[in-house]
Amino acid sequence: MKPNVVLYKKIPTDQVVRLQHAFNLSQFDGMTADNHREVLAALAQADGMIGASHPIGASLLDAAPQLRAISTISVGYDQFSVPDLTRRGIALMHTPGVLTETTADTIFTLILTSARRVVELAELVKQGKWQHSIGEEYYGTDVNGKTIGILGMGRIGYAVAKRAFLGFGMPVIYYNDVANPQAETLLHAQRRSMDQVLAEADFVCVVLPLLPETEKLIGYAQLRKMKSSAILINGSRGKIVHETELIQALREGVIRAAGLDVFEHEPLPANSPLLTLPNVVALPHIGSATHETRHAMVACAVDNLIAALAGNVTANCVNPTALERH
Ligand code: DGY
Repeated sequence: MKPNVVLYKKIPTDQVVRLQHAFNLSQFDGMTADNHREVLAALAQADGMIGASHPIGASLLDAAPQLRAISTISVGYDQFSVPDLTRRGIALMHTPGVLTETTADTIFTLILTSARRVVELAELVKQGKWQHSIGEEYYGTDVNGKTIGILGMGRIGYAVAKRAFLGFGMPVIYYNDVANPQAETLLHAQRRSMDQVLAEADFVCVVLPLLPETEKLIGYAQLRKMKSSAILINGSRGKIVHETELIQALREGVIRAAGLDVFEHEPLPANSPLLTLPNVVALPHIGSATHETRHAMVACAVDNLIAALAGNVTANCVNPTALERH
């Protein structure tokens, strides 16, 4: 008998076909109040789940007593309580690796765009306000040769550091709980305390995972430690930065600007004060959002679910001990 699987996100047809080949598939285009009853009915028989962008908490898990594996189409897994999944014997699979370079591209886009005021100035051109050679009031700040500070030197942090050092001649300093020998050897990156990174970097890039200990890690007090000419970039999770305090710091000129792909609440509410600030570049959480990478993530998540439901622990399993219970 094929395992029963609940798909809770719209994915490309070729990957739906793979899932249908391997499993009895119940397919939902997201989980909403409208389909809640049908989702619960499918979960009652489910051995596996695959999807993204929806918190999976105790009430959904309670509705799925047979569940053995969840495959999230993301590298981040802050939508789940890993200890709870492990306690229930549910393996959590994620998609590291396939999105590293694309997410680093997005983060570098934010660095360049914020430093050179691209959004603000492109808008000025579109509004027909470019009537003479632009003056100092519209100048940006250099990226090349400036110091980049990376908070979190994992896969994506390293890929950002590589672009910065090899492409833009930027000295790299970083804060991480363990040293990254590859970054230190190949990119001459120097590990520092968080306060040192904040104080010395011209660009501070947040690339940490969201964990209880990183939630609201960057607030007004930390932003005050940055240079007033420095720019904050967040391409990780919005909740790592205290958003209200960031708004205050940007308004007061405590830092020069911010480039943000992620927010405390997503989608960012249209009345967010962030959207009124000219020194903010705001993107709609597009870190990995290219055709190629999103397809690769789904294919990886499908592979992961097939492996997990066959009882195979792979490198993409967040909590391999959960499988030991079966
Ligand atoms: C990830 O994969 O975690 C991206 O941020 C998309 O959510």
